[in-house]
Amino acid sequence: MICVQDTRRLMANFDALRSSEILPSGEDAKILGAFYTDTQIAEFLVRWAVRSKDDRVLDPSLGGGVFLRAACERITTLHGTPSSQVYGIEIDRNVHVRIRDKLVDEFGVKRSNLRNSDFFDTERSQFDKIDVVVGNPPFIRYQRFNGDSRRKALEKSLENGVQLSKLASSWAPFVVHGVSFLKQGGRLAFVIPMEVAYTAYSIPILKFLHNSFREVTFLTFQKKLFPDLNEDTLLLLADDKGHGPGKFLTRDFSHAGMLRYQEFKNTSEVFDRTEIDSRALTEAERRLIEGTSNNALTSPNLGSERHPASVF
Ligand SMILES: C[S@@+](CC[C@H](N)C(=O)[O-])C[C@H]1O[C@@H](n2cnc3c(N)ncnc32)[C@H](O)[C@@H]1O
Repeated sequence: MICVQDTRRLMANFDALRSSEILPSGEDAKILGAFYTDTQIAEFLVRWAVRSKDDRVLDPSLGGGVFLRAACERITTLHGTPSSQVYGIEIDRNVHVRIRDKLVDEFGVKRSNLRNSDFFDTERSQFDKIDVVVGNPPFIRYQRFNGDSRRKALEKSLENGVQLSKLASSWAPFVVHGVSFLKQGGRLAFVIPMEVAYTAYSIPILKFLHNSFREVTFLTFQKKLFPDLNEDTLLLLADDKGHGPGKFLTRDFSHAGMLRYQEFKNTSEVFDRTEIDSRALTEAERRLIEGTSNNALTSPNLGSERHPASVF
């Protein structure tokens, strides 16, 4: 089993990442999980995921639009047509209107491509032939993630064969529903919480990713990606939908600035990854089934505490 700590290297100091504009703020931000992504991270994920001038890109929780802006720029560089290849969904009406208008003005994105809706009310048929799903889904813990929105989210996961526990945070059904929009061979690139590596409720998600993609890479960082967020986060790069079961790979960076060095290699691929023995996943599942983590399953702290079903 690979331990993230093992791969960590000491690096020189790095200035704290500039947090991008955070809208909405305070309680509203917590309720909607609205902590926006730094441009550099969004650009890296988009650059990795979007490879062809014809790629169609969806951000299911577009927020401040940083991923879709990066997608428009990337598609323009590849000589594609961002106005018709970029799609997004946002539940917050005010944010949606402001960002939609900016994307329409700046890149001519079709207004009808940018919808004000709950992602879990959105059917696959509404966004056809998506090559890339990219974004930073809301991290709303189960205590706040309740009622109708939770019911719809868990139902959508079940439609894709993934039964999530009542302790799952909102990012988990976003991953499952997001994957369902991808066509064969598609890529998903998300910012997700570190919880994916050590909570019992994540195990069905890890199995789903393992079965759905040829390669699933987890990029971890010693320096927090979101200095304002309590939660540690990582980058999930899932490649080649429909060609699993695949492999799990990891790469640990000292800080997000290191992502720039990837670009010097003049490719969107990530080098020097370490494969995680897939037995780690089987083992975590076994421990879960055997009940070593039964207490954890019912513990109110499961959303954040490390427990024996850790995968890496
Ligand atoms: C973590 S923010 C990320 C925004 C943007 N992708 C970024 O990285 O800057 C999550 C966004 O998801 C939106 N959101 C929350 N629940 C949603 C849902 N069920 N459907 C669509 N959007 C949702 C929030 O309003 C917020 O803008």
